[in-house]
Amino acid sequence: MPVPSQIPRHIAIIMDGNGRWAKERGLPRRAGHRAGADAVGHVVDACQELKVGYLTLYAFSSENWKRPAGEVKSLMKLLERFLKEKTSEMDERGVRLQAIGRLKDLPESCQQQLHEAVERTRSNTGLTLILALSYGGREEIIDGIKSVIHHVREGHLDVGMLDPDVFAKHLYTRYYPDPDLLIRTSGEMRVSNFLLWQISYAEMYITKTLWPDFRKEELLAAVTDYAARSRRFGGI
Ligand code: FPP
Repeated sequence: MPVPSQIPRHIAIIMDGNGRWAKERGLPRRAGHRAGADAVGHVVDACQELKVGYLTLYAFSSENWKRPAGEVKSLMKLLERFLKEKTSEMDERGVRLQAIGRLKDLPESCQQQLHEAVERTRSNTGLTLILALSYGGREEIIDGIKSVIHHVREGHLDVGMLDPDVFAKHLYTRYYPDPDLLIRTSGEMRVSNFLLWQISYAEMYITKTLWPDFRKEELLAAVTDYAARSRRFGGI
């Protein structure tokens, strides 16, 4: 497949279908998550090749805490192992790792690994990989409102100056451009509390492929589809 004519600057992905992938194979759900973590590696490589600037992955939502304790624990362990095993390689390849969400909710050891990975890769200039962890779009907006109130009370912000650009500076994503392309795997047609503010003008691409099977070819198909669309941002 040829390189698409337009590469999105920022791709966001709702990685869905790990459980179904495992079920189809008669495996425990954690095996699906493990295969999902392997797919992350493939997609990071593909984004680097395509020179995508930012990749945000919905790795653990605010709602995911409601899953059985055993599954939550195995997801946290997997995240920790991913950070431990992949940070050196990502660093060598120039990837800058970042995270958004209520990170203080994560287990201490996870926060520590995350902190090390972020610090180690801080000055890299290749792909920025943003992991959304204990992340919820509504929670982010609430945290943004609290930040605005704090700034107003401290006299650093005049309420009359509040507009979408100013508010965006109070979100977790203040350092990144909005996603251009939102991908969801496993065929579900939902946004599921992901980047609610930021996806206002994102193009959506939904594929039936389950996340553990997602590879470079599928990413290329999504980007090729994106490149063929005309984005008008409400204009004509
Ligand atoms: C959805 O599958 C996926 C998740 C809840 C979490 C995503 C996590 C990973 C891809 C693995 C770890 C990630 C990193 C960055 C190391 P599901 O369990 O909802 O699947 P189902 O809808 O088929 O049950």
